Amino acid sequence: MRPDEAFPFFGIEIRTPRLSLRLGGDEDNLALARVAASGIYPAGRIPFVSTWAEEDPDVLPRNLLQHRWGNLSGQRPGDWNLHFTVFHEGGPVGVQSLWAKDFGVRRTVNSGSWLGRDFQGRGLGTEMRAAVLELGFATLGAELAHSGSFRGNAASEAVSRKLGYEPNGIEVYAVKGERKISQNWLLRREAWERSRREVISVSGVTPACLEFFGLTP
Ligand SMILES: CC(C)(COP(=O)(O)OP(=O)(O)OC[C@H]1O[C@@H](n2cnc3c(N)ncnc32)[C@H](O)[C@@H]1OP(=O)(O)O)[C@@H](O)C(=O)NCCC(=O)NCCS
Repeated sequence: MRPDEAFPFFGIEIRTPRLSLRLGGDEDNLALARVAASGIYPAGRIPFVSTWAEEDPDVLPRNLLQHRWGNLSGQRPGDWNLHFTVFHEGGPVGVQSLWAKDFGVRRTVNSGSWLGRDFQGRGLGTEMRAAVLELGFATLGAELAHSGSFRGNAASEAVSRKLGYEPNGIEVYAVKGERKISQNWLLRREAWERSRREVISVSGVTPACLEFFGLTP
């Protein structure tokens, strides 16, 4: 039995001109941990609500593996959170997630992402976000997509704006004892249609996947 026969999300692949997005296996997770350990953001400028990337390089691989296993084990029909490994030129370079709760009813997705610093600033962040939006809107029929970025995260904000998101309120978080304001972003289906990139293909979304996505026939 292949992994995707037991767990259908393993068979999904999204391809863009320069990237392939798949869940990947433990070898890929270890390669991702190496990318993360070599740096995601400048010291002191945590872009995430969680401080996972602050860990010591000795501990980070174990934490990253446990986080990804925990994430996979928590999937339920309609309530899913896919942490796609982003492959570029043959190896992992970052993660692009897409998640939803009660998707069959709410038709709303959320996303989050990171790239290793060596791979930032070349348009890959825009390409990988566009990839999961293709899955969410074109394949699964989403109506809305949310995202969020801490104030001052110019690259993440620029990706959201370029793809047609509009500002949608703020949230306030405590990160390592510091007050951080997150700008929420909202992408409506009509705006996604205007910014859509036709060169993205989604494969492997089988009837078993659709059921897991909360789209029972
Ligand atoms: C956010 C992130 C995924 C974006 O990916 P990226 O590949 O660096 O972004 P892109 O190259 O696609 O750039 C998108 C836009 O941002 C702009 N941009 C990038 N860095 C910028 C900066 N420091 N200041 C201003 N604009 C910036 C680019 O010019 C580009 O716009 P353009 O195409 O109109 O020129 C990546 O930078 C990253 O992983 N950052 C650290 C982790 C993080 O912040 N994750 C998101 C948490 S909300």
